[in-house]
Amino acid sequence: MLSYRHAFHAGNFADVLKHSVLTLVLDYMTRKEKGFHYIDSHSGAGMYQLADEFAQKTGEYKDGIAKLINEQELPEALQPYINLISELNPDSEKNGLDLYPGSPGIAKRFMRRQDSTHLFELHPTDIQHLTDFCHRWKKAFIKQSDGYQGVLGLLPPPSRRGVVLIDPPYELKEDYQKAVNTIIKAYKKFATGTYILWYPVVQRERINEMESTFIESDVKNLLKVEFCLSNDTDEYGMTGTGLFIVNPPWQLAKQMNQVLPYLKAKLGTHNSSFSVEQLIDE
Ligand SMILES: C[S@@+](CC[C@H](N)C(=O)[O-])C[C@H]1O[C@@H](n2cnc3c(N)ncnc32)[C@H](O)[C@@H]1O
Repeated sequence: MLSYRHAFHAGNFADVLKHSVLTLVLDYMTRKEKGFHYIDSHSGAGMYQLADEFAQKTGEYKDGIAKLINEQELPEALQPYINLISELNPDSEKNGLDLYPGSPGIAKRFMRRQDSTHLFELHPTDIQHLTDFCHRWKKAFIKQSDGYQGVLGLLPPPSRRGVVLIDPPYELKEDYQKAVNTIIKAYKKFATGTYILWYPVVQRERINEMESTFIESDVKNLLKVEFCLSNDTDEYGMTGTGLFIVNPPWQLAKQMNQVLPYLKAKLGTHNSSFSVEQLIDE
């Protein structure tokens, strides 16, 4: 069952949160000369055309990145992400947005010759788009196979430096626990890696369960950042989004405390909320 297509959601408020954090993490990793591995368990297509039928059908990016792209007074910590989107859309002020990068598109901007990128994707169409997108990217290795298994097979990386993004579609309820359990297993193999796990807030109990599983595990240094557009509800639909980040860069919590009030002001309403919480200490 592979019905999820990220093209419907590219550039929405959840992507803004996820990709601004990913940008800050990769920016931090490239401050050291030594190479590292970037592993993306659920990569999607790599790059999205916002004029296509998918993005236009939902228009989600209009309530996400489109509201930020031409803003002048951005918090410093949001600047690297917005710069990256601006570089892809040099005429955005006049003509709006054309392109939006998925997580591999963000990574491509940062990865150097000494770094290597490992991308997993199962969908037959998106793997094709991803392969086209990575054409000529020498140190990108793409596999059409299960990303949870793929991550575990690559750890620990030879450089002992790595960032792992786990970003499932959550079409299956088991994804919530599977994603956490994959990080717990990965951490046993490579405890110094940085792990970023994205989640949607649809049913609050699922997020509470993820949190409890982490707290009962051996994982240390876990940060949780969350941005909710509206209050939790029993009705269906995503009201918010968040990330669990194991071994975040030391200044990430402070940076997100700059970024999140701004996102609430620009993308939210008076019902919106955010939090930055160190769930497990170092
Ligand atoms: C939320 S999207 C990824 C978006 C992407 N990480 C980004 O930020 O641009 C999830 C993707 O995971 C793919 N997928 C679903 N199950 C998978 C699995 N077990 N292994 C690898 N990819 C999977 C889906 O086809 C979909 O493209």
